[in-house]
Amino acid sequence: MNLPYLSKTDINSKKVLLRADLDVSLEKSTSDIFRLEALIPTLNFLNERKCRTIIIGHRGRPEGKNEKNSLKDICLKLSNLLEKEIKFIPEIFSDSVKREIETLQEGEFLMLENLRFDEREENDDESFVRSLSSYGEVFVNEAFATSHRNHASIVEIPKYLKGFLGLRFEKETENLSKVFENPDRPVVAVISGVKKDKVLYAKALTKIVDKVLVGGRLPEYLENEKSVREFRDNDKLIIANLIYDKEDITLHSVERFKEEIKKAKTIVLAGVLGKYEDEGHRQSTKEIFEAVANSDSFKIVGGGDSLVAIEMYNLTKKFNWVSVGGGAMLEYLTKGSLPGIDALLH
Ligand code: 3PG
Repeated sequence: MNLPYLSKTDINSKKVLLRADLDVSLEKSTSDIFRLEALIPTLNFLNERKCRTIIIGHRGRPEGKNEKNSLKDICLKLSNLLEKEIKFIPEIFSDSVKREIETLQEGEFLMLENLRFDEREENDDESFVRSLSSYGEVFVNEAFATSHRNHASIVEIPKYLKGFLGLRFEKETENLSKVFENPDRPVVAVISGVKKDKVLYAKALTKIVDKVLVGGRLPEYLENEKSVREFRDNDKLIIANLIYDKEDITLHSVERFKEEIKKAKTIVLAGVLGKYEDEGHRQSTKEIFEAVANSDSFKIVGGGDSLVAIEMYNLTKKFNWVSVGGGAMLEYLTKGSLPGIDALLH
């Protein structure tokens, strides 16, 4: 696909509205700041080109204004990582926001407050998008992890401003597309976790991979949800058995999964196999993650808990690609695009 990449654009001295992945908790572990670290090359790129940059993004699902989800401490953290000041404005729209943007100098950065404090972000509201777009001359989407959402700052801004995909976004598409564009086969996906919508991704993955290994809570959903129960018979699926309290998969299933991992030439790892936060339910996640990390295949991993687990077991460097996306990674793999990409093409 011929995509509009920032890396190939002359953006010198422009006023840039940058949609970033700022949905980070800063509590769990260093894997939480992985998304912020992934923004640094783009921020440096814009700085070197003397752009004036307004950073926008969301944090959590606050449902209205909620100080706990403020971007203030994220701004400070990002600023420390960048080793350059990023001024935080605790608002999205006001006269003082306008003033700050007007007086922004070349190479300077501003960050606005959590877009989800305004319900119009998720409701795709036109007046919201128009006001937001008026802040910049060009738009850069560096929010791969959120680009599966049809939200205003992802899909609507490109109707008003010429848009580009950021440096990280470009690398995400390059690496993840290796899974569906002439991959080395067999391709195996290990999909787990607790989120119900992953069952649908498991279903979609059967169209592009050779085996889908299903763990975490997903076997239970497949058993209990009428709408997906018949999908259990798909012969690409290998569904784990769960232990008595359903918080992990059985050792027999771990062995079965390892057989497929051993044969794989390409592996997608999305989600932890059990409740790995509890020491007593960590075994399968450790074994399967190590088996994937130590295989000679082309291997990618994504999703918040998976990143915590690979770090916990010191496996991060063994993966060919660590995606900033969870749901977005799965959607990109299964659809070959994302709403945030399509919005830049139309
Ligand atoms: C994520 O963490 O997956 C993204 O930031 C999207 O967040 P959401 O699932 O709350 O839309």
